Amino acid sequence: MKIRLDKYLADSGFGTRSEVKLLVKSGSISLNGNVVKDSGIKIDTENDEILVRGKRVGYSEYEYYMLHKPAGIITASRDKNEKTVIDLIKSKKRRDLFPVGRLDRDTEGLLLITNDGDLSHHLLSPSKHVSKTYLAFVTGEPSEDIYTHFKEGIDIGDDTLTKPAELRRFASVSDVLNIYNDKVLEDRLSEYNDVYIFEITITEGRYHEIKRMFEAEGCEVVYLKRYSMGSLILDFNLAPGEYRLLTDTELSSLKNKE
Ligand code: URA
Repeated sequence: MKIRLDKYLADSGFGTRSEVKLLVKSGSISLNGNVVKDSGIKIDTENDEILVRGKRVGYSEYEYYMLHKPAGIITASRDKNEKTVIDLIKSKKRRDLFPVGRLDRDTEGLLLITNDGDLSHHLLSPSKHVSKTYLAFVTGEPSEDIYTHFKEGIDIGDDTLTKPAELRRFASVSDVLNIYNDKVLEDRLSEYNDVYIFEITITEGRYHEIKRMFEAEGCEVVYLKRYSMGSLILDFNLAPGEYRLLTDTELSSLKNKE
């Protein structure tokens, strides 16, 4: 791919377009061994060697990170006052990363961070019905019909009922931990007493959807964690706030099979 030098440097995290223009003017950049001062020069991203102050720059057109979102951080690309999920990705090269979908401030768990708009659209498009699975700790006794209600769709005050959701209840803490081998979950379980533990799979992403679904059933979600989005599953080795690049297998499954 051929792009301008200033775009190449800005995309690679060396500053805004005007900042990198100054950097180029200062003589800090070399292209295939020769200093360049023209920031409009076209770069072949695969074959040219760019050095910034003698250090090689690698170009990534796209980046894909799995983040274990901690509670207390907002799902936004940038914010004037608050730390966002993008601020947690310290090793990012691209400046145009965004979160795919939204988790509430108090929700933990899997969040995909990328700058790939096509993939994001594909995963979030309502017509694709990509499944998202969560664990919810719930207070207030759920009715026996809750499973049917979730399957048939719930009136949460929108124009249409929610799309069918799969719900299952874990009878005991050890049942949950057998399936979700997640150290964080053990801590969370010890923080909450007398909660009902549900696994819920939805295919939409309405605002506060799960909380509103339980609320419509007279219950309250006191803790929510996302474990999967399509074929992508939260890596239990990541502590809240940690992230890693997606593996090639994870990425190709997300792109091909959803
Ligand atoms: N549903 C919610 O209510 N909150 C989330 O963060 C995600 C799904």
